Amino acid sequence: MVASYVVVLFLLIELLISGAEALSMDYYMMSCPFMDQIVRNTVNQALRQDPTLAAGLLRLHFHDCFVQGCDASVLIDSTEDNTAEKDSPANLSLRGYEVIDTAKKSIEDQCPGVVSCADIVAVAARDAVFWAGGPFYEISKGRKDGRRSKIEDTVNLPAPTLNSTALIKVFDQHGFDARELVALSGAHTLGVARCASFKNRLSNFDSANDVDPTLDSSFSRTLSRACSAGDDTQVPFDRTRNSFDTGYFNALQRGMGLLSSDQTLFTDPRTRPVVSGYAANVAMFFLDFQQAVIKMGLLDVKEGSQGEVRLHCRRVN
Ligand code: HEM
Repeated sequence: MVASYVVVLFLLIELLISGAEALSMDYYMMSCPFMDQIVRNTVNQALRQDPTLAAGLLRLHFHDCFVQGCDASVLIDSTEDNTAEKDSPANLSLRGYEVIDTAKKSIEDQCPGVVSCADIVAVAARDAVFWAGGPFYEISKGRKDGRRSKIEDTVNLPAPTLNSTALIKVFDQHGFDARELVALSGAHTLGVARCASFKNRLSNFDSANDVDPTLDSSFSRTLSRACSAGDDTQVPFDRTRNSFDTGYFNALQRGMGLLSSDQTLFTDPRTRPVVSGYAANVAMFFLDFQQAVIKMGLLDVKEGSQGEVRLHCRRVN
């Protein structure tokens, strides 16, 4: 009896010291019950005006979670003495910041100082996927916002030139297996890449080949023509850039993957069956994607006093 009191007391003290409250689906049930609804309305309104932002919001979530965990560090603006993550070359084409700001403002009006920017990013990405025709999944909330955002931390983001072995390694470091790598790469069913991200495949590729041999030859000519307009020219990952579907995996099967890091998933015998499986079975892709993206949303999450609830998503309190 005494022993169990001691255990309970010990747990309470630990909870007080760390300020930790576990993540949960209904984390804001008492403190901000309309949080989900406000984010959904904001996202839907933004996407009605610009459907291409669905891709931006999903990518924002990925680039947030893979650097310092899902703590909205990607949203912080640089200051005089600190160059933040968002000014790294890998993040310069990120989009959707305004949508997060709008949602945060509406939420602050209703329940000030309660809902973290990190949770808003995760919920907005979820709503963007669903809006684009993808699966709906429930997510836990209670992430705290980080206080650190440094350009050098973005070295952890995978480069588009990586081959499958390197990709498998990077994702393994974050706890994902090869199948989850393919499922998450399926996010490239949405959006575009700029020529700068894949032009290395179109000429002077390597000592043996001028053009990347895994690229369909007629597609490579189309890309070269498009990219003659400049490095910032945008090319969709698949034929349906605003629809969350299996178009990306079908493209890989035709040698029409845009990035080296996309096409390599079909070249490598370890991941090719997964690509083919998803191309043929949308339900399987959706199920695996939602499991993997929920897991991504829990990467190195800060709880309690490990972080804060930022009042403005672009700066620490
Ligand atoms: C597997 C490793 C990955 C690499 C190397 C990679 C790299 C890239 C690159 C280079 C771009 C185009 C950027 C530009 O040219 O401006 C891009 C776009 C995008 N990425 Fe990834 N990515 C990866 C995984 C992911 C994951 C896991 C997600 C989300 C779960 C994601 C979501 C997106 C989306 C939605 C876009 C389109 C953005 C837009 O249209 O604004 N990517 N990615």
